[in-house]
Amino acid sequence: MKFTPTEEQLAVQRTAREVAERLLAPKAAARDVSGEFPVAELAELGRLGLLGIAVSDELGGAGAGTIAYSLAMQELARVDASVAVAVSVTNMVAELIAKNGTPAQAATWVTPLVSPDGGLCCGAFALSEPEAGSDPAALRTTAVKTATGWRLDGTKQWITSGSHAGVIVVWAVTDAAAGHKGISAFLVPGKATGLTVARLEEKLGLHGSSTAQLVLDGVEVGDDAILGAPGRGFALAMMALDGGRIGIASQAVGIARGALEAAVRYAKDRKTFGQAIIQHQAVGAMLADAATWLDAAALMTLRAAHLKESGKPFGQQAAMAKLFASEHAWKICDIALQVHGGYGYVRDFPVERMLRDVRVTRIYEGTSEIQRIVIARNLLRSVA
Ligand code: CAA
Repeated sequence: MKFTPTEEQLAVQRTAREVAERLLAPKAAARDVSGEFPVAELAELGRLGLLGIAVSDELGGAGAGTIAYSLAMQELARVDASVAVAVSVTNMVAELIAKNGTPAQAATWVTPLVSPDGGLCCGAFALSEPEAGSDPAALRTTAVKTATGWRLDGTKQWITSGSHAGVIVVWAVTDAAAGHKGISAFLVPGKATGLTVARLEEKLGLHGSSTAQLVLDGVEVGDDAILGAPGRGFALAMMALDGGRIGIASQAVGIARGALEAAVRYAKDRKTFGQAIIQHQAVGAMLADAATWLDAAALMTLRAAHLKESGKPFGQQAAMAKLFASEHAWKICDIALQVHGGYGYVRDFPVERMLRDVRVTRIYEGTSEIQRIVIARNLLRSVA
């Protein structure tokens, strides 16, 4: 067992830390207020290879693997979780198409998505619907065969980067009688005729990330838009989400690390009763718990990343990492705010933003309750 990252993994981590400090940190608080989508920032991250970290270099990615991806995500989320989620979903979409698309689909979508100045901005993952979130097999969007391709109709909900994505993977029913085996995935251009942003959600946190409701009204795509075989869409979504959960666990770890660092800094500077508050046992104990949970969450996340990178089954470990990391990141951010006292509750310090931003990691890409279902089902299968 090795706990030391390779030189290449460290290089990706350093790149992410440097760009996070240089490009994201100065604007993170302002972006939280303005809600401005980070178009220019994503272009720069693309130039640095951070939009396709685990995508092969032949396709324009960094070819650096899932551990490097997790380390980079942690660095970005430590500073600005809104930018990090756009990066996470883009990496997920790029990997999904790279692994399951035809060479032509990879050339059309993956390379422009992950390469410097590819022009696609970011990717989006349009699975959820107003009445199909935790239970995506219940989705209602339809794809009907036409002479030249497919016509898509329906509504997609909670779509991260849905307002800016150059390519959107859209899941739709192609055979209503076949249940989850009648769901297929389609590669839809963000500017497709008939595709509109019906609503942008006003959220508790992640204000610099767009969360869109998308309406597909007779969107026509060619035969070459289907990803994998018809009816394979549900399995593709589940596989992509297994990997996506490593991204969200990494995001949670990163936000929690940013909050804990801020809390330790504050607790060293702030004095009460004649000493730095970190010297008070009550404060020290809270920070000790937070540091321990953070370490455990990071180790679980990197183990899941290691298994994925090694080509071994990792769904169970990814679900456990996401469950533990997101639940504990929430507690860590709460401790960080508490340590700041009243100053934690106002915008002069970053921890109130981090507490709001981290909350959704317990919800998206599978709620904590869904992770427990995945974990329990695997436990059931693991005993004879
Ligand atoms: N990998 C590959 N295949 C899988 C799989 C996996 N991890 N999990 C399930 N499958 C396959 C099963 O093998 C089965 O296939 P067969 O019929 O061929 O045997 C099929 O999928 C159906 O499996 P289940 O009966 O277990 O499916 P289910 O309907 O009971 O659901 C679930 C299982 C795990 C709860 C699933 O519904 C789930 O993950 N729900 C949460 C969805 C989710 O995470 N949504 C997030 C939306 S995306 C988002 O948030 C993105 C964003 O923008 C940030």
